[in-house]
Amino acid sequence: MNKKKFISLEGDFHGNSYGSLSVTNVGLHELFGPVLDGSLKVTPPNASLDKENLEKDIENKCKELIDLISCEGSETIAAMIIESIQGVSGVRIIPNEYIQKIREITRQNDILLIVDEVTTGIGRLGDIE
Ligand SMILES: Cc1ncc(COP(=O)(O)O)c(C=O)c1O
Repeated sequence: MNKKKFISLEGDFHGNSYGSLSVTNVGLHELFGPVLDGSLKVTPPNASLDKENLEKDIENKCKELIDLISCEGSETIAAMIIESIQGVSGVRIIPNEYIQKIREITRQNDILLIVDEVTTGIGRLGDIE
């Protein structure tokens, strides 16, 4: 089984354990590396751009993802993991349009999409006990 690689977003935080550090791109991994092989990253669009520039940025960032998948081979990539709002990187919102597009791209390429809602899910995913 060759589907072992993970794609994450520049600025994502997914935890401090070994595997999750491999898909964390906030500088922490540099202190603890080298981490697991096959950790790929792409740049998210900049949500603070105006509407027209944001649309172009989303298009470019989707192309970056498509190019990466094609270069690495979709058969080698298990999943893409994202934070829908990046917490540790300073509450950076990932635009909905981009999330919808990467959902399509990952589905077309048989790659799982994991949305890490450890921070954004608070109050929506059940009671806090
Ligand atoms: C977005 C996000 N993902 C993952 C984690 C790590 O969660 P855990 O400590 O349960 O592994 C955190 C922890 O703060 C987080 O903020």
